[in-house]
Amino acid sequence: MRVGDTRAMSRSEDAPAVTMVVAMSADGKITTRDDAGPRFTGPSDKALLRRLRGESDAVVVGAATIINDDPAYPLPAETRRRRLDAGRWETPIRAVVSGRATVPPTARMFHGHESPALTFVGRDADPARVRALAEVSELHRGDHATRVSPAQIVDTLATTHGARKILLEGGGELNSAFLDAGLIHEAYVTISPWLIGGRGVASPIGGDGLNFSDIVPLELRALRVEEGETYLHYRVSLR
Ligand SMILES: NC(=O)c1ccc[n+]([C@@H]2O[C@H](COP(=O)([O-])OP(=O)(O)OC[C@H]3O[C@@H](n4cnc5c(N)ncnc54)[C@H](OP(=O)(O)O)[C@@H]3O)[C@@H](O)[C@H]2O)c1
Repeated sequence: MRVGDTRAMSRSEDAPAVTMVVAMSADGKITTRDDAGPRFTGPSDKALLRRLRGESDAVVVGAATIINDDPAYPLPAETRRRRLDAGRWETPIRAVVSGRATVPPTARMFHGHESPALTFVGRDADPARVRALAEVSELHRGDHATRVSPAQIVDTLATTHGARKILLEGGGELNSAFLDAGLIHEAYVTISPWLIGGRGVASPIGGDGLNFSDIVPLELRALRVEEGETYLHYRVSLR
């Protein structure tokens, strides 16, 4: 089945909206050779990420990003209060996708939040690792040995937790799985004024890439330049 066909099938009108957010260097890298993650971005980009998290019901992230960056997901007190007043969790649900269960249970995403943390593992993930993750999170198993389908992730967040707005925070491998599944509705892309290079250094979308006939069209919604960084907001078009 062509990627375009999958996309048309999977993005139904009542599905939760999935927003991808990514920051990259001017040469399209999301980290550095020594895996410093998105530390190259400026304060406006970090503010954008906080705003998008504050608007989301759930954030979804890949295991390598948790292992490398160990985000704590702090939100300003005012945002937390506004969420509580609106009858939402004080902070968004955090979901990590870790087919082989490599994500450590000590990661900060699992601790210090009142909202649930979810872990998605593959069917054949190491049982001891899975048990340890089940102690700190709500565990979900995929149907494939070491992969979990993005459709299952979105469906679980929507049906068991009522999520309507999902923020996809990368990294490149997880973004690629969501793109292939046709589940990304919009994208925020920050271009930071650095060159990083490296054929093995991750870019916003990893995986195998698409053929010319399947490349995904974007509609530009907004563009702004602030403190040397370019902020792009796109709608992801259906074919
Ligand atoms: N600049 C930015 O905006 C930004 C944003 C996010 C991350 N980053 C950086 O990007 C780097 C990580 O990116 P990455 O592409 O290497 O990794 P990633 O997507 O964060 O994580 C890859 C891992 O996630 C799991 N995974 C992903 N898709 C899966 C699926 N469909 N089913 C099951 N498991 C799945 C697997 O975990 P298992 O190994 O457990 O199977 C896989 O090894 C880090 O350096 C991070 O700092 C930058």
